[in-house]
Amino acid sequence: MKNRKTIVDYYRARAPEYEQIYYRDVPKRRQEIADHFEFVEKLAAGKSVLELACGSGYWTQAAAKNAKEVIATDIAPEMIKEAQNKKYNSPVTFINSDIHNLPFKKAEFDLIIIGFWFSHEPKQNYSRFFEIIQKPLKADGQIWLIDNNPPAEGAKSDFLHSDESGNNFKRRRLDDGEEFSILKNYFTGNELLDLFSKPFRIKQLTHDIYYWSVLLEQKKTELPADS
Ligand SMILES: C[S@@+](CC[C@H](N)C(=O)[O-])C[C@H]1O[C@@H](n2cnc3c(N)ncnc32)[C@H](O)[C@@H]1O
Repeated sequence: MKNRKTIVDYYRARAPEYEQIYYRDVPKRRQEIADHFEFVEKLAAGKSVLELACGSGYWTQAAAKNAKEVIATDIAPEMIKEAQNKKYNSPVTFINSDIHNLPFKKAEFDLIIIGFWFSHEPKQNYSRFFEIIQKPLKADGQIWLIDNNPPAEGAKSDFLHSDESGNNFKRRRLDDGEEFSILKNYFTGNELLDLFSKPFRIKQLTHDIYYWSVLLEQKKTELPADS
């Protein structure tokens, strides 16, 4: 096992085969994705959307159905290349960027969407991560995240170990058999409530068989009574 390889190496190598995850022949799983896709199409309508870790553009297509514009970012050029091969209904701009070092200086987006990244974010980084994703968001903006529950993992993944911060590591195999050790965390509905209710206002939370999703809003800062 090539443990020295990073999660970025993994997704760069996986880019051409990545979208298989959306087309597995499991009706309930496909239905959950279809429901979320429709939700994002409606949620993004008319909005200025920032997508982080956009991958091959699956959710970009949902957001771009009726959005005003979508800025989609990912660290892997191979993923962006896949995403650029898709057709979009609204203007979409791709930016090669690390989610931890975004190039946006102002709070300019109505909606931020993040598909299947949160499970890879190390637990010890959550406070910083929440700050990073709130910075480009308008005060009345929203953040939507979706991620896996354990049944969504295919046969090419198994548990390896956990670290001192409680992060799980799994073995992932590409179609050619190449193996990677990948940080991948899972959450119960109550854990998600606990995690997100501190830094955000939770507008909606779903925790189904294959996927969880959450729609977040910024907490309003109360002004002093005499101001
Ligand atoms: C599980 S995929 C999700 C792709 C897409 N959001 C989706 O839901 O289909 C994770 C993505 O994160 C990207 N990624 C990995 N490390 C990253 C980083 N530090 N900053 C930004 N993107 C990163 C990978 O290239 C990959 O496209």
